[in-house]
Amino acid sequence: MTCSKPKVFITRELFDEAIERIKKYYDVEVWDRYTPPPYEVLRSKLKEADAAATLLTDKIDCKLLEEAKNLRIIAQYAVGYDNIDVECATKLGIYVTNTPGVLTEATAELAWTLILATARRVVEADVYVRWGEWWRTKTGWHPKMMLGTQVTGKTLGIVGMGRIGRRVAKIAKGFDMKILYYDVARLPEELEKELGAKYVDLDTLLRESDIVTLHVPLTKETYHLINEERLRKMKKGAILVNTSRGAVVDTNALIKALREGWLAGAGLDVHESEPLPPNHSITAFNNVVLAPHIGSATYETRLAMAMLVADNLIAFAEGRTPPTLVNKDVVKVRPPGFK
Ligand code: GLV
Ligand code: GLV
Repeated sequence: MTCSKPKVFITRELFDEAIERIKKYYDVEVWDRYTPPPYEVLRSKLKEADAAATLLTDKIDCKLLEEAKNLRIIAQYAVGYDNIDVECATKLGIYVTNTPGVLTEATAELAWTLILATARRVVEADVYVRWGEWWRTKTGWHPKMMLGTQVTGKTLGIVGMGRIGRRVAKIAKGFDMKILYYDVARLPEELEKELGAKYVDLDTLLRESDIVTLHVPLTKETYHLINEERLRKMKKGAILVNTSRGAVVDTNALIKALREGWLAGAGLDVHESEPLPPNHSITAFNNVVLAPHIGSATYETRLAMAMLVADNLIAFAEGRTPPTLVNKDVVKVRPPGFK
């Protein structure tokens, strides 16, 4: 008996090492452009597919899922999956997997990069040197040139204490910081002790922290979690860093906060609209450090994410529960596998 392999549509070029592994189990089609497949293309590709590997730029809504009659698994190449209607997928018996764990360090490192870059005005300083301002002013060294904020000994507020938040806390210990955290669930006491982190409500965290860093997923509950009212609670001179999802912060409120000087600055890797247009008002602030959603963008991490996508697709093809399944209830709707 010959049986053809299931078809997988992969919405962007992953690493060859991962694609080669997937090819042993699947007929692979890869969208090989640098830009995402348009919605209509995605729709028609998924109608023909048994499996998909997606990115956070691919909008997978219920209509698209309902039309994809053969689709059994979506392996998301990201830890966040707010682009996918998971509830709908579960109802339809479609498995959704993500890539947690492997990007924890990279994302925590970028959060710290933004914390330090914002506090010490590194990007502004680079521009000052590079574009000749330092030369033109003949300053050399001045007691009040490019003054920033010290991080050591300050209070760090971590909103969302998952893997990434905890890693950020570990690094903060090296700066002798006082660590406050807020999450919907409190950590076990032992872990709190180990991290030296104190659980507080969000308002207390905002009021007391010198630096606030966001590590929550985007959900209905966290949409615009950091709104005008909350920004007003932050210390004057505090720094806000976001490496989670743009829409966790109300950007217009943040712009107001920056314009009126309630905050010292912000470090933003994620944006409500991506790609961020170059004329966006947030780009006018030189106390804002911007990055193009590169939290997980190290070679090591992006390769590990691709391998985890392959692990999930392969496990499913072999009739096993994928290792990082998001919608665990789906197994009650349909067992894993293509039979
Ligand atoms: C990236 O933003 C991710 O969710 O992995
Ligand atoms: C992501 O991996 C998180 O749990 O923070």
